[in-house]
Amino acid sequence: MERKQLNDLFLKRFGPGPTRAFIAPARVNLIGEHTDHQGGYVLPCALHMRSACVVRPRDDGRLRIAASDLPGMVEADVSDLAGYANIPWGAYQIGVAHIMRQRGYHVSGMDMLFDETVPHGSGLSSSAAIEVATAIAIATLSAECAGTEIDLLELALIAQSAENDYVGMNCGIMDQFASAMGKKNHAIFLRCADLSYRYVPVKWVEQSVALMICNTNKPRSLIESAYNKRREECDTAFRAVQEKAGIQYLAQMTPGAFEEYKSMIEDPIALKRARHVVYENDRTVHACELLEKSDFVAFGALMDRSHDSLRDDFEVTGAELDAMVDAARAQKGVLGARMTGAGFGGCAVALVKDKDCDAFIANVSKIYAARTGYTASFYRAQVSDGAREIKDTQDA
Ligand code: GLA
Repeated sequence: MERKQLNDLFLKRFGPGPTRAFIAPARVNLIGEHTDHQGGYVLPCALHMRSACVVRPRDDGRLRIAASDLPGMVEADVSDLAGYANIPWGAYQIGVAHIMRQRGYHVSGMDMLFDETVPHGSGLSSSAAIEVATAIAIATLSAECAGTEIDLLELALIAQSAENDYVGMNCGIMDQFASAMGKKNHAIFLRCADLSYRYVPVKWVEQSVALMICNTNKPRSLIESAYNKRREECDTAFRAVQEKAGIQYLAQMTPGAFEEYKSMIEDPIALKRARHVVYENDRTVHACELLEKSDFVAFGALMDRSHDSLRDDFEVTGAELDAMVDAARAQKGVLGARMTGAGFGGCAVALVKDKDCDAFIANVSKIYAARTGYTASFYRAQVSDGAREIKDTQDA
């Protein structure tokens, strides 16, 4: 969508006057799933799908938030943002504004219009995209008042805090980091223990390979509580080995150390969760080396193993994601397939040779629908830049 169209949408809701527009992308994680909350490595890319926030400051302290696909608007007073965590829509935005106020940003009254191209609840982190779009909009307006610089990494941390402390989803930093810090045609190899990172070029296009995102379109429910429970189970495992293994976080354990100390984890569920985290973390380090060499055959094999571990040990896949991944793996030209994101529904990803993509979509659609009753959607991933302002004639 063009900047002008976004502006028109805003003017329709809020009336004439100047506006600014910001976008923040969704993400796809290539590998390193459920490792971020344990201090491990992840390998996400920012996507072409995005949340856009068109904004105009107001001088009466009112925050008004609208969405292009919803009627009405949510209203709050910027001096009193604490009580909106459970509203049906708008809590992410208000949560970010609330945290930013607490951290000393100048948060004025504002009219904000959101427009999304990320399918909701798809595991591509539509919520992080909304949070980061809100944060960069507020930070830009605030910086212009206070003469400060915009720190994208800090915005990622603010967005995570809105999700953890305001909305109550105890997520790691991966999604918000990828949305704020993404780089066109690069994956981010991020060490979540200390947020050190580097960009790794993704060259599947040059190798005539596509990353296909396969949406199960299964509505996800109660994901917060299931996610938070997995984290607690990881904590149980961590506490059991922490002292003897001399570790500060679970993903710090190597596979060798895990095999040495695993008998100390008495709870069988916690043991499985820890096994996933440790081996997935190891796979992610290895996968990053393979990505650097554009060895997509070996990379695909690690994707397969990642999914199996998420299915058997972390238990976050479910019937629909398993059906999608099984159907994908059975197709010609597929190098590997796995779920991406938190799981419990949402999307899988597959590396597919270009020439086989059409047959892939046709066959997987059919098999998946027959097995689950849901209609799948497919998107070819384009790796984009992170959060940014959209100037007058640009596409968003
Ligand atoms: C969700 C969370 C992330 C991460 C993934 C699983 O997307 O927001 O922090 O834990 O699940 O890898």
